[in-house]
Amino acid sequence: MNSRLRRGLIIIAVILTPFIIGLLFTYEILKIPFTTDMQNQISINYQESPRRLPPEGAVPVQGLAIIPDEFPVNPIPADEVSLQRGKILYDIHCRICHGENGHGDGPLADHFERTPENLTSPQITAEFDGAVYLTIRTGFGQMPPLSENLTPQETWDVVNFLHTLPTR
Ligand code: HEC
Repeated sequence: MNSRLRRGLIIIAVILTPFIIGLLFTYEILKIPFTTDMQNQISINYQESPRRLPPEGAVPVQGLAIIPDEFPVNPIPADEVSLQRGKILYDIHCRICHGENGHGDGPLADHFERTPENLTSPQITAEFDGAVYLTIRTGFGQMPPLSENLTPQETWDVVNFLHTLPTR
């Protein structure tokens, strides 16, 4: 091999080497783990657990209402202001079915198979405030959910007010 040919080959090799190395990466014969790769992340696929919780205050608009494992605790003290608000809200949202004193004799009561005769019966008052709260938020039997009519705080005001209805 004469020296000119050898020099030519060396020059070609020097020029080609970066391309060949580049090809090794292109065809993934050599791999560099890019830690920023977006596919390397914790992602939850359709119907895979853990399920993400809905944002706080979200209202289910179809399907079953999500009933929490534990009854919520009444955070609103039954002070004068709360009871006042509760009465006003009761008159607007409940009276039409449950009647002025919660005796189940509102103008709409006849349209239901059963409207609880007395919202202050022992059966109701023995329930936790949380159970009544959920009844109002998610509905119960033929009673429609009222979560779109009342904010959570207003709902507790109504719950507080129910305790003051005269027992029959
Ligand atoms: C559209 C009519 C209607 C409205 C408005 C309504 N309710 Fe009812 N409610 C009913 C009916 C009917 C039932 C009985 C459901 C059943 O037994 O299937 C009921 C049941 C209940 C119960 C459960 C009683 C039990 O036996 O456990 C509570 C508590 C209650 N309502 C409270 C309220 C409060 C508080 C409001 C107002 C924020 C309200 N309801 C608004 C119709 C209504």
